[in-house]
Amino acid sequence: MKFEKNILCIGAGYVGGPTMAMIAHECPQYKVTIVDINPDRIAQWNSDSLPIYEPGLDELVKATRDRNLFFSTDIEQGIRENDIIFVSVNTPTKTFGTGAGMAADLQYWEKTARQILEHSTSPKIVIEKSTLPVRTAHAMERILNSTQKSVRFDVLSNPEFLAEGTAINDLKNPDRVLIGSRETEEGLKARNALVEIYANWVPRKKIITANIWSSELSKLVSNAFLAQRVSSINAISALCEKTEADVSEVAKAVGSDSRIGSRFLNASIGFGGSCFKKDILNLVYLCRHYGLDDVADYWEGVIKINFYQQERFVQNMLTAMFNTLAGKRICLFGFAFKANTGDTRESPAIYVARRLLEEQAEVVITDPKALDNARIDLANAQGKIHFVDDPYEAAKGCHAIAIMTEWALYGELDYARLYRDAEKPAFIFDGRNILDPQHCFEVGFNVFSIGKRPRTHF
Ligand code: NAI
Repeated sequence: MKFEKNILCIGAGYVGGPTMAMIAHECPQYKVTIVDINPDRIAQWNSDSLPIYEPGLDELVKATRDRNLFFSTDIEQGIRENDIIFVSVNTPTKTFGTGAGMAADLQYWEKTARQILEHSTSPKIVIEKSTLPVRTAHAMERILNSTQKSVRFDVLSNPEFLAEGTAINDLKNPDRVLIGSRETEEGLKARNALVEIYANWVPRKKIITANIWSSELSKLVSNAFLAQRVSSINAISALCEKTEADVSEVAKAVGSDSRIGSRFLNASIGFGGSCFKKDILNLVYLCRHYGLDDVADYWEGVIKINFYQQERFVQNMLTAMFNTLAGKRICLFGFAFKANTGDTRESPAIYVARRLLEEQAEVVITDPKALDNARIDLANAQGKIHFVDDPYEAAKGCHAIAIMTEWALYGELDYARLYRDAEKPAFIFDGRNILDPQHCFEVGFNVFSIGKRPRTHF
């Protein structure tokens, strides 16, 4: 069968996989190929057990795989045969050398640019899908034009705004699609080619076009603003605990102002995930690079509050449980960084589990989708750790339950039964404010929520 367009995506991760599955689903006239250097990941994409959990993703992949969606490890062939190339490789925080702990590590991205250059024999539109520091497209263009090759490359920025856990809906009905290009004749032509792809299912008024630097920067700024809201309400939760104000009531009152809005105002143990922290650190690093230290300090505060909130949670546990956790069994309900995903990258649960082990507690972990990742995350942690599928089994004989992830199932458990099987006095620390604290208190637990008065029997 002859397809209208051939599209390649380099990087079959949380972004590349779902994004390309959506394009293949909405555009049966295009052939979409996803390549990755990791053969295990590609084998999983080609199997019945996909490498990532995302509601609705299985159905999408089943409907399109081997029809117009293909997964492969042959990157060279992919580059040769496709003229539209999305790059969605990982861009983690650098762990070494200059900018360690702050700047984006661009080695995977740069390797991809060089591969594209090496194997291209026809003009290519190269699309930055990964989140990158502003002005990366300039470096991309310099690499792609660094040899005497007479192949034309146009670089576009098309950052991805999907959120894990709701990725399929976010892709199907996005708030907006952002496409940045050079504002030259060729740049605008390439921009239009990408607009046409999205216009297959996204209303045109939601497809925003911009200059390439605005587009690159907008992604970092979006994540910084979202994380800032979480840190803002979390900072206030600490004040609520001191003053007998209730953070949920405060959030409701504040969020009802249409200028502020109610979303992302749930106080919690803090944000996690692979993006917020790394993207804000990247923004902070960029600001410092340009000598904007006050601006850098402002955004760095968002990260500091997030760390403070996680440590505060552990300190509250310690204080409530008579200043010692040594030898106590503590059950973590959830390990994923949020509900509806198995992703544990930067999950607050990692920090809490490690701190509890440091305090010589015995840690029992349960999660419906993230136990395999949890095992990897804690592979070299010292101490007694157990991984248990069933939450009732996991909590049996524990001195405390700590809610780490807002999985709906944890709100629906029988807390009277959990109390009967718990070590007494029994404690609940609700790091996501998903439980009814009064109910849990009435069945016997001592209940500590975020930003609310404790409910204790002593
Ligand atoms: P990921 O780590 O799940 O996937 C990246 C994939 O790229 C991996 O499978 C890796 O093997 C592959 N890869 C690395 N170098 C390669 C190369 N040279 N050739 C071929 N494949 C290569 O990362 P994820 O989460 O999909 O993120 C990708 C980018 O998208 C990052 O820049 C991230 O900041 C951004 N992003 C992530 C979102 C998320 O929710 N995870 C949301 C929006 C943007």
